[in-house]
Amino acid sequence: MSERKIKLQLKDMAKKYPNGDGVEHINLDIYEGEIVSFLGPSGCGKTTILRAIGGFHDVTGGDITIDGQSIIALPPEKRPTAMVFQSYNLWPHMTIYENLAFGLKLRKIPQKQIDADIKDALKLVSMSGSEKKYPSQLSGGQQQRIAIARSLLLKPSLLLLDEPFSALDAKIRQQMREELKKIQSDLGITVVFVTHDQEEAMTLSHRIVVMNKGKFAQVGTPTEIYDHPNSKYVASFIGEMNFIDQGDKTIAFRPEDVNVNIGGDGMITGKVRTIMILGHYVSVNVQCGDDVIKCFVNRDISDKLEVGDPVGLTFTKYHTFDKNE
Ligand SMILES: Nc1ncnc2c1ncn2[C@@H]1O[C@H](COP(=O)(O)OP(=O)(O)OP(=O)(O)O)[C@@H](O)[C@H]1O
Ligand SMILES: [Mg+2]
Repeated sequence: MSERKIKLQLKDMAKKYPNGDGVEHINLDIYEGEIVSFLGPSGCGKTTILRAIGGFHDVTGGDITIDGQSIIALPPEKRPTAMVFQSYNLWPHMTIYENLAFGLKLRKIPQKQIDADIKDALKLVSMSGSEKKYPSQLSGGQQQRIAIARSLLLKPSLLLLDEPFSALDAKIRQQMREELKKIQSDLGITVVFVTHDQEEAMTLSHRIVVMNKGKFAQVGTPTEIYDHPNSKYVASFIGEMNFIDQGDKTIAFRPEDVNVNIGGDGMITGKVRTIMILGHYVSVNVQCGDDVIKCFVNRDISDKLEVGDPVGLTFTKYHTFDKNE
């Protein structure tokens, strides 16, 4: 691991807006060939960080390096980055072809090569044949795919994607995730990806940065964050989690880590409140005093249960947090 090359470094970076919003004390090393996702609720500062890396914001403190060189004095076009904006930013007066060709012409790429590259890029995002259309003639999801194609055509060594799949429906979204992973490993590029969709972050990333109000709450691999959330906030943000208060502590455990014992023996007892069959597993809610505990069980257990039945719950894996954290 020690010989992994650091591609991007955020060093005590700050970007504060005049009204005091923004981010500060941002420290992170991103390795070459890594996909790192910034995940967090609306307004936590994800776009702010991405724009600072891409050069669309001046930082107000600290430094950003790529391949060891500070880039904060460089304008966006001089950085080895390409960014897909949350609002895709296609030029409305240009056709799709012209939108895609623009950056390549600036780089003096031969016309034949431009045509061939554009054809490939459109195929990649399932938009073949749309060259002559204008952005206004495309749906939001289609425009988003063109914006992705445009960024890939620039063959950046660092790709910055701000919720690039948010306007796509579930199936294309899934396809695009797989394509992005393939492109990333084929080209060996480094990707910084912003999303507020935890499932997207979990499936796509090598590491996830969970953000809360302008700060990093936790940085880790998807499994580290899922199995070892370092705070109540991260525990509640990633996956499903039950919380029960005991004295000055909060106990947190996932629905898949609860055993439901028919009859009533267990660490806590309660009564079955709802039973929902969700395909190969079943979600059983159990009323335990004032708490409702969600449990995922197999059909062989749920088939023996009815609403109102007394059950006991035991859990093998749990986390303890300070109640007032
Ligand atoms: N140009 C700006 N001027 C002043 N404040 C801003 C500006 N852009 C963003 N902010 C504020 O900075 C904070 C972080 O915004 P940012 O756009 O980075 O959030 P985000 O995590 O990308 O949210 P979302 O998921 O909604 O896109 C917010 O409180 C926002 O209101
Ligand atoms: Mg944003």
